[in-house]
Amino acid sequence: MCGITGYLGHREAYPIVMNGLQRLEYRGYDSAGIVLSDGENVKLFKTKGKVSSLRKIAEKNDVHGNLGLGHTRWATHGIPNDENSHPHFSNSGNIAIVHNGIIENYDTIKKELIARGYTFKSDTDTEVLVNLIEEVKIKNNCKLGKAVQMALSTAVGAYAIAVFDVNEPTEIIVARLGSPIAIGIGENNEEFFVASDASPFIEYTKDAIYLDDEELAIIKLGKEIRIRKIKDDSFVEPHIQELKLNLEQIEKGGFKHFMLKEIHEQPHAIQDTYRGRLLASKGIIKMGSVDNNIGKFLNANRIIIVACGTSWHAGLVAEYLFEDLARIPVEVEYASEFRYRNPIINKNDVVIAISQSGETADTLAAIKLAKSQGAFVFGVCNVVGSSIARETDTGAYTHAGPEIGVASTKAFTTQITVLALMALKLGNLKGEISNSRFNTFLQEMTLIPSKVEELLKINSEIEKIAAIYKDATNCLYLGRGYNFPVALEGALKLKEISYIHAEGYPAAEMKHGPIALIDEHMPVVVIATKKGHYDKVVSNIQEIKSRNGKLIAIVTKGDTIVKEIADHVIEIPETVEPFTPLLSTIPLQLLSYHIAVMRGCNVDQPRNLAKSVTVE
Ligand code: AGP
Repeated sequence: MCGITGYLGHREAYPIVMNGLQRLEYRGYDSAGIVLSDGENVKLFKTKGKVSSLRKIAEKNDVHGNLGLGHTRWATHGIPNDENSHPHFSNSGNIAIVHNGIIENYDTIKKELIARGYTFKSDTDTEVLVNLIEEVKIKNNCKLGKAVQMALSTAVGAYAIAVFDVNEPTEIIVARLGSPIAIGIGENNEEFFVASDASPFIEYTKDAIYLDDEELAIIKLGKEIRIRKIKDDSFVEPHIQELKLNLEQIEKGGFKHFMLKEIHEQPHAIQDTYRGRLLASKGIIKMGSVDNNIGKFLNANRIIIVACGTSWHAGLVAEYLFEDLARIPVEVEYASEFRYRNPIINKNDVVIAISQSGETADTLAAIKLAKSQGAFVFGVCNVVGSSIARETDTGAYTHAGPEIGVASTKAFTTQITVLALMALKLGNLKGEISNSRFNTFLQEMTLIPSKVEELLKINSEIEKIAAIYKDATNCLYLGRGYNFPVALEGALKLKEISYIHAEGYPAAEMKHGPIALIDEHMPVVVIATKKGHYDKVVSNIQEIKSRNGKLIAIVTKGDTIVKEIADHVIEIPETVEPFTPLLSTIPLQLLSYHIAVMRGCNVDQPRNLAKSVTVE
């Protein structure tokens, strides 16, 4: 997954495009590039490495120009190096392109082009695409927009592209299939911005168009934007939306890392997520997309949850929620396995797809599969207008705001919040939860944000524990019931940002093997909250202690038993069992954060990872 951005207008394009790339760097950061045109001259700068390295190169040169395209890369085809970084040019040097996605049939196209005398400097699918556009343009003697449309009709795969012809420096063509692209519109069409999301142009305009799949837009200075369907050239009425993002949301808000900022944003994020849905005083949960499809949920044979990574862990918590509170059978599937396992999907199945970015390719494909088999697909997404939000029949947004840190935190707790509201609503409607118990839950949910706030206050205590275990080479996380998925999530957080090998397990599973790993060098994090098989967890803790394991226990405030056994205890406020994951996960997020910082890791952009994985 890459970040693309561009500008066309009366201002200097360089600073706008460069700052835009900086903001999009969470999307991929192994190489970057920029192309500028001042109407006569075209300047290209690109390099392996971060946007900061690109800046160093470009600023030694003339960067004047009112049209610019930029790209920050996460390699798919071709290793991260200067040649493979974008922008790419056609053989004639007339057409420039930046691309996010993958052209799956690029090899076939490349062979045909080579047979026609084309040569290639890079190993990328993108350079193949821009030369295909050139070939089509020359052969059909048509305008760039038409050539892009025709070329894309033969390309297979996912793409968001921005293209311009050096001889037409007042026009940019953008198109999308699978990968997101937003267009920012300046006053009187005197300037335009294009980007993978709105963050690069948020301070310049609040008017934006999110292109839909298989759409192409012709952006010409001083002209209305024209949008066409790629496959049949049909006209599409542009849908301009007002952006609600603010710049501060994007910047770090004074925290050292986006991850720490996002951990601290969880009280608001959870509140924003149930705002307007949880009406505790009225004793109701209002979720239009559920209400409008209530029959499907109430008559569902089962719920199949598809997701990846942290979202999959939220799905696992949802399994406990729906089965416990609504008595609806649930299966939780890794989307990547589900899409190829030839799964049995029935018409009365409800599929819930969970994704922060809304762009994860495997989850998107699992959705398409489920829809093709007639299942009703409900999405839980954080990015408005994302591909998954568009592809699902309906859904509910988590209002976590932009999540920039690659390690997902507030998306996890807001996903659980949405799923808990759904399970409570269905449970109450089905009479599985009495009205009094239902109201207790609603009241308790309104207390969760302040309980998270309270928890964030012990950040420095957790930092002290992190200092003791920062040099660990392995770590185990244990939980039971609702807290088993939290143990998995805690292990994932530590793995992905500190590069320490960690595994999560149901606490009782220890005896069936992993306990062999326990010795005085193995830190073991155990979630031992009062609600949820407490006595059983205490005996698991004793089994570990008797083998000298180093115990970090997450306990309910006022716990007196585990305190006597564990090496460290982190107290969390008491809550009802189904909501414990919303609290027990917070100390695990902070523990992994501090350990990673102390190990000098790049917490917001861990190695080998990207914020959402738009390739298989
Ligand atoms: C979690 O911290 C990771 N960034 C990753 O596992 C992520 O959860 C996964 O790629 C799914 O992303 P999504 O929620 O955007 O679909």
